[in-house]
Amino acid sequence: MIGAFSGVMKTSKVMSILSFSVLLAAMMIPSLQAAPAASAGMGKGLYGVEGANSCMFCHGISGEGGKVKEAAKLTHPKQWKAYAALGGDASYKKDPKVFLEKMKAATLDLIKMGAIRHNATYKAEGYNKAAIKPYSAQMMGLSGSASIAWLKKYSDKGVTPDVAAESLWLHVQILDQEAFFKN
Ligand code: HEC
Repeated sequence: MIGAFSGVMKTSKVMSILSFSVLLAAMMIPSLQAAPAASAGMGKGLYGVEGANSCMFCHGISGEGGKVKEAAKLTHPKQWKAYAALGGDASYKKDPKVFLEKMKAATLDLIKMGAIRHNATYKAEGYNKAAIKPYSAQMMGLSGSASIAWLKKYSDKGVTPDVAAESLWLHVQILDQEAFFKN
């Protein structure tokens, strides 16, 4: 009796493990198909998307000379506020690799959040907010209407705001004319 009972238990356990695995596989298939990786090409497309308040609209196709005069020159990363907030030249020279990682983290947050939320919430080791003026609210990042429309379109293909921002980071490095990102 006991043997037969545990046999039944085993079968149902096997069944539940099987159906759980099937469920897991079913959940994974769409995400394996979608979820494109970040790329400079994707960043270029998003950066230059037509419409009001895309990155290009304010910053210009080359990273300067766009429609918003106050927009940072993406061609000159050493002039960015993030560079100053992280301690500028002295800090950069001490450890360029670590500095670049921190600059990337701060910039990705700014791009994803836009200036207002970034000003209010961004904190990181080595990032001294007091060393800079808050970012102008004009820096909308991905919250500009053309970027929102792009994100909506590509979210169907699995592109998340993180992948989009990472792609922009890759594209912005190409706009650099100071060879800052080459080091
Ligand atoms: C509506 C105009 C506008 C849009 C849209 C916009 N920006 Fe900006 N951006 C600005 C302005 C203005 C600044 C300068 C802000 C400041 O220094 O206070 C800026 C600054 C920056 C900086 C320099 C950050 C720093 O640390 O100084 C980067 C990088 C940047 N923008 C990237 C982007 C990217 C990528 C996009 C597209 C997702 C984008 N921006 C969309 C106006 C805009």
